[in-house]
Amino acid sequence: MTSTEGSFPATRLRRARAASWRRRLVRETVLTADDLVLPLIIVEGTKVRQPVQTLPGVTRLSIDQAVETAKEACDLGIPALALFPVTEESLKDEQGREAHNPNNLMCRTVAAIKKAVPDIGTICDVALDPYTTHGHDGLFDGDDVANDATVEILVKQALTLAEAGCDMVAPSDMMDGRIGAIRNALEKRGFVNTMIMSYAVKYASAFYGPFRDAVGSKGNLGPKGKHTYQMDVGNVDEALREAALDIAEGADIVMVKPGMPYLDVIAAVKAHVHVPVFAYQVSGEYAMLAMAGNNGAFDKAAAFKESLVAFKRAGAAGIFTYAALDVARALAGKG
Ligand code: PBG
Repeated sequence: MTSTEGSFPATRLRRARAASWRRRLVRETVLTADDLVLPLIIVEGTKVRQPVQTLPGVTRLSIDQAVETAKEACDLGIPALALFPVTEESLKDEQGREAHNPNNLMCRTVAAIKKAVPDIGTICDVALDPYTTHGHDGLFDGDDVANDATVEILVKQALTLAEAGCDMVAPSDMMDGRIGAIRNALEKRGFVNTMIMSYAVKYASAFYGPFRDAVGSKGNLGPKGKHTYQMDVGNVDEALREAALDIAEGADIVMVKPGMPYLDVIAAVKAHVHVPVFAYQVSGEYAMLAMAGNNGAFDKAAAFKESLVAFKRAGAAGIFTYAALDVARALAGKG
């Protein structure tokens, strides 16, 4: 300790902890609803609210229900939604063609939400996994996902979403060069204000399991899984290169994913770049907290809040979490 930090008893750190007002006054990191993005999983139909077994408390919603939830989220001060589709099996193929059908479920969802709740932002995933029979994020060439051919389709998907009114496209596929290609195409077509949030630092993680259940994208990933395009869990230098490249190509925001097991990566990326860094409390993280909380292991609401403060303390400017509604309600004193 340096001398400026003093020594006991002149310095007693418990003094500033002795009452709620003192703790609030000196708190460094404060979580607000502004920090949260609510992911929604959308299905065909009307009045559908389908619970997801591995994500307790999360329901797949038909468009009309998503609009209701969007209103509630907006009223609670949540700035944006992240939208994911459940694609009917009959619409899937090897190339994920449904991804750029202008009348697909995502496009209709975005249009309905923007019409009913114009003040909430819409963030749409760009990747082919919900649309391909094999469940991979891109097209195959031989026995691996082909980078450049996939990028061409992702560009089409991003333009289709922008056309439908999507405010921010979020490529989560981890192909090389896709941010530049998408930014270029958006500029050419006049979508100069469509933002890009790049899932720049996305690890090949076991924690996506419940999400793949929820959107039905498990497919048959094969023995290599997504390891030839998503990042190796052991790497941090590579995360900095991924983030820097995507920013150079035009990303407005970069994402680190998963979140809680990767707080060191969030902090490292944050120290390295000058764009907002977001993080995703992914499905497996949510499931762990929700299931343990539901089983009495701890106070669920307190655990969620603590986990999200940790994201922010590590450097996240915003956090995707399936708990966004509950947390925002609690922050508003409506818990
Ligand atoms: C699709 C995508 C995934 C997630 C978000 N977008 C799954 C994957 O890459 O397999 C995971 C989200 C979560 O687990 O909550 N590319």
